[in-house]
Amino acid sequence: MIDRYTIQRILDSADIADVISDFVSLKRRGVNLLGLCPFHNEKTPSFTVSPAKGIFKCFGCGKGGNVVNFIMDHESLSYPEALKWLARKYNIDVVEEEDTEEQKQLKDERESLMIVSAFALKFFSRALWEENEGRLIGLSYFRERGFQDNILKKFEVGYSPKGKAPLTEAALKQGYKIEYLEKSGLTIKREDWIRDRFAERIIFPIHNLAGRIIAFGGRIMKDDPKAAKYINSPESEIYHKSSVLYGIFQAKREITRTEKCYLVEGYTDVLSMHQAGITNVVASSGTALTPEQIKLIKRFTPNITIIYDGDEAGIKASLRGIDLVLEEGMNVKVLLLPGGEDPDSFAKSQGANGFQQYIHDNETDFIQFKTRLLLNQTENDPIARARLISDVVHSIAVIPNTITRSVYIRECSKLLDVKEEILYSEVRKQKFKQNEGLRRNDLRQQFQPPGVKSVQQVQAKNQHPSELLVEEAEYLRFLLKHCKTILFEEEGPHPHEVHQIKVDEFMIHELENDDLVSENELFRQIFKDVKENLENDQFDPWKHFIYHANIEISKLATNLLSEKFIESRRWTKAGAFTESEEEILDYLVPRIIYEYKLRKIKQMMTEIEEAITKASENKNFDRVIEEQSKYMNLKRIEKFLSEKLGSRAIN
Ligand code: CTP
Ligand code: MN
Repeated sequence: MIDRYTIQRILDSADIADVISDFVSLKRRGVNLLGLCPFHNEKTPSFTVSPAKGIFKCFGCGKGGNVVNFIMDHESLSYPEALKWLARKYNIDVVEEEDTEEQKQLKDERESLMIVSAFALKFFSRALWEENEGRLIGLSYFRERGFQDNILKKFEVGYSPKGKAPLTEAALKQGYKIEYLEKSGLTIKREDWIRDRFAERIIFPIHNLAGRIIAFGGRIMKDDPKAAKYINSPESEIYHKSSVLYGIFQAKREITRTEKCYLVEGYTDVLSMHQAGITNVVASSGTALTPEQIKLIKRFTPNITIIYDGDEAGIKASLRGIDLVLEEGMNVKVLLLPGGEDPDSFAKSQGANGFQQYIHDNETDFIQFKTRLLLNQTENDPIARARLISDVVHSIAVIPNTITRSVYIRECSKLLDVKEEILYSEVRKQKFKQNEGLRRNDLRQQFQPPGVKSVQQVQAKNQHPSELLVEEAEYLRFLLKHCKTILFEEEGPHPHEVHQIKVDEFMIHELENDDLVSENELFRQIFKDVKENLENDQFDPWKHFIYHANIEISKLATNLLSEKFIESRRWTKAGAFTESEEEILDYLVPRIIYEYKLRKIKQMMTEIEEAITKASENKNFDRVIEEQSKYMNLKRIEKFLSEKLGSRAIN
């Protein structure tokens, strides 16, 4: 761990314009600097750096953040790695904080496992390229399958020789400990014997993001129905199967550059696609795709294309994958290969050009994929058709972003020839189902008599962290931007006693009094930090949040504070204001609070409407009456707020 003091020194020294200039040619434009965005292809510059604020922001692709975020994104580094990168640039010694005994041990264990894996990599590689057995058996196998040497070298493949335990013996001779050989899975040890796990197999090393070896996969070369085709390293302190993707190290740059990632199943698929010139590709390695793996891809791009075999198993697997990817808020496309082909065989039979052309012609977005697939099966059967619609709608409903959802609804409506309104109402029903358990708590909480505080916290829902409601974004922006500004003065109980109310205090108390809790996790975190610093006059939300250790928060803060946001809808909406925000804070702040509350109230009303419909379907009339009275109550509040806001109330 890097200690706080050093982190602060790094942040103080790292001049964002200076750092970014190492990578991007910047021109001065007013108080800002402007250049071509390094994160997406563009011809006219929309990449802005604000030295004064210490942030960058691309108005083309939306990427933005502080200097640390820039290095993280640009160099594909973790937070501490990026700090160290900056420290090197500015000649700052990084003092790592003393770890606890336990941390030390874990670190030592990890390091030892990596070191022994690196040894094995060298051993396997030598065995493949330089020894007779490996060249005759391993290398000729690879070559027979059409793999070129440059690809084999790029992926550092190897060969594990025959015999009882040649690797283990060599390692022990070099002083490596049996403990780590065993924990890494390279050696299998029983009471009275040891042997190499991968003996007589070709080896696919698995790299982590930084390119270090964390595990191996070994393929048998003979056709032996009794033996497993592949065996893999077991889980260890350095290898968590569910969060690793094969090929990510070799693909990450190209994924960022092309803004797209292909996902295939196997080791050889990845190699063959590289050989065909498609290098933004990773494999889930036979396991079902996990959310961690998807998040890993998401660090580099929001766009995934799943490539699967065209057989039934492949189709089923891609259907499962689709919803998972959608839930992460990513864009997903699907490419089915002709039956019986996998990317490896297909790349080889079609050649690079043929494969790329096939991708170009056959890649479909998930709606088309799912609809066509299911339409084929349902033809003229109305019941099957209804099931199809609800199936597609289910996928749409898991998408966190409203705009993306509406795009898909439009497309689905065209393809299935169903009215958009019907699809919207289906999506609402599905979302309602998905959230039902959580919401019930919520409602109960909202209808306690005023003044009674509830301690119950609303749990995080399906909402995506970056998906703030417009009203929430405005709320936060004001809270951060005008945090310690005095909003108004209140007279105290004693003569001449004046209490000054600041923006943060007012905005926080207003929501807390009504027990309004945002569903957005980042909103809640920012809210909490501001609240903890109510009494702290030195608190600078700008610094605090832009350099927040939680990257999501630092990005959100950057977005909220960057220029484009400031010319917000409010100015056009509320008419032609000429005053600066600061001058009319006492007018703006309450408005923002009302708008936020109104939005929440409307949300609750929609939910109650649905509850009423459901209760009346179930003939639960007590419930109907109960819900209706809640509804009337909200209606009154809604009216009050709408009047306060005047005719420009938002919907
Ligand atoms: N796999 C595994 N264990 C097995 C079978 C498969 O771990 N017993 C994983 C491997 O990562 C493999 C992937 O699942 O790459 C896909 O399996 P499969 O399609 O059977 O293998 P291919 O990658 O196509 O390998 P090959 O082309 O050499 O047959
Ligand atoms: Mn294959």
